[in-house]
Amino acid sequence: MSRAADETHRLAASDDLEVAAYLEATREQAGEAPVDPPPTRDPSIESVVIFDFGSQYSMLIARRLRELKVYCELVPPDASWEGIAHLNPKAFVLSGGPASVYDEGAPQAPPYVFDSGLPVLGICYGMQLLAHQLGGRVAASTEREYGPAMINTRGIDDDNPLLSGLHSTMPVWMSHGDRIVELPPGFRPLAFSENSPVAVMGNDSGLYGLQFHPEVVHTPAGKDLLENFLLKVCGFRGDWTPGNFVQQGIQRVRDHLGEGKVICALSGGVDSAVTAALVHEAVGDQLTCIFVDNGLMRREEPERVVETFQRHQKIRLVHVDARERFLRALAEVTNPETKRVRIGEEFIRVFESEARKLGQVDFIAQGTTYPDVVESASTGTGTAAKIKTHHNVGGLPSDMKFQLVEPLRYLFKDEVRQVGLELGLPEEIVYRQPFPGPGLAIRVIGEVTAEKLELVRSADWIVMDEIKAAGLYGDLWQSFAILTDTKTVGVMGDFRTYGYAVTVRAVRAEDAMTADWARLPYDVLARISNRIVNEVPGINRVVYDITSKPPGTIEWE
Ligand code: XMP
Repeated sequence: MSRAADETHRLAASDDLEVAAYLEATREQAGEAPVDPPPTRDPSIESVVIFDFGSQYSMLIARRLRELKVYCELVPPDASWEGIAHLNPKAFVLSGGPASVYDEGAPQAPPYVFDSGLPVLGICYGMQLLAHQLGGRVAASTEREYGPAMINTRGIDDDNPLLSGLHSTMPVWMSHGDRIVELPPGFRPLAFSENSPVAVMGNDSGLYGLQFHPEVVHTPAGKDLLENFLLKVCGFRGDWTPGNFVQQGIQRVRDHLGEGKVICALSGGVDSAVTAALVHEAVGDQLTCIFVDNGLMRREEPERVVETFQRHQKIRLVHVDARERFLRALAEVTNPETKRVRIGEEFIRVFESEARKLGQVDFIAQGTTYPDVVESASTGTGTAAKIKTHHNVGGLPSDMKFQLVEPLRYLFKDEVRQVGLELGLPEEIVYRQPFPGPGLAIRVIGEVTAEKLELVRSADWIVMDEIKAAGLYGDLWQSFAILTDTKTVGVMGDFRTYGYAVTVRAVRAEDAMTADWARLPYDVLARISNRIVNEVPGINRVVYDITSKPPGTIEWE
């Protein structure tokens, strides 16, 4: 590391002009007027604003900061000060990204970031931007650094608050093509790696750059580094929890809705349940929930929705029994995508006709969560690709003029769950495994009939019962039964049987993008198999799906 270390020390000897002085000088040169300081902020909220330059890890940065109990939001690089002032930013993070600072049209940090005098953490591309926009020089690296590297901080600036309590050599995860060859005025290198003389840089006003990704698990000390930045450099209290969000969220919904009437479609899933509970807390009877029983739910689910929302939460609930309609819409359909389309269309028809019966309705509340927002190019920061469109079953009635209310828009799934618990929702709903919008229709392979739905529902009930009894429900992403359209021969007592084969599927996953089949204990599988064959007439064989995703998907259709 000695060549890089020498370079580090040479860079450390650069002159000591302040950022403000540099900005003033460059503006004067360009004949630009000085920028007014941002307006005063509401001290009761404090947050980090993360500029998303398109790194695949941007959302992970947000997760980490929130785990460290500091509220943050991702915004696009062109966000105006007026657009973010309500967040009361106390610090900025500039994310990584695929661009190179000298590319034509490369995104930049808005000038108010540096004029604000607030601390800034630049990560990878964000660090190059800090250097580039504040008068340093960036060049393409001859050795592109990607993957694991060691950084060394020994003897450079041992008292620096960013590095406080950390080891002087640390494994980190690098991913960059450019490197800093000249530091901006006032900055010092704080660490080097074999290929980066400046793996970390900083100045005395709380501006820092990291050449590596502190947000990924491959940088084991990354979380400590981020914590140092938040608590020691920025002075955050570090006391934000999703619980804080509840009161704020309720107030925001109240302000937004005023006296308006709002509807919300309940699906039985956690997102719509928490949305309804929060909106109800905010505006009481201005909210009406519509629950469409499509006949494609699990056993006792419709009853649970009615019980929880109508009886316990005292929410006005319109319960529509649309089982027949959905069966008719699905008659003779065997193609999975056609099933989805028919179910989506039918849902909109039923929902619209019920909503119309309510008279004037101004708003519709939806359980959109943060990953949906960030993953959707149209509403998010605009930098990530659109994923999972087919999962937004139902969609919104197209010609109805509602304004959208999305109170969970800025929360991650586990935060939504905590909010649900705070609002008094039962654990059974809050920790429910995901269930697809088209429900059991895509777990009956081939044509969907009332009889087949009953078969899969009975088998599914036994799977759920045994998985819960074994204490495995919370560990599994999903566990369920699928009714195949294959009949097989069996023997029961002295009789030949000819019944359906059922598949049991249980997967572990962090998110649904990938999944591994769960190594369920043989005893549990044996109990499930015995009970299904004995208790569900019409099913005489049980198989276990041992395909992971990829190459399989979680659902069979
Ligand atoms: P796959 O089968 O694609 O499923 O591995 C990934 C996750 O999405 C759920 N899923 C759906 N959810 N509408 C939904 O609301 C759908 O059409 C749909 N298809 C799959 C699936 O249960 C799993 O959690």
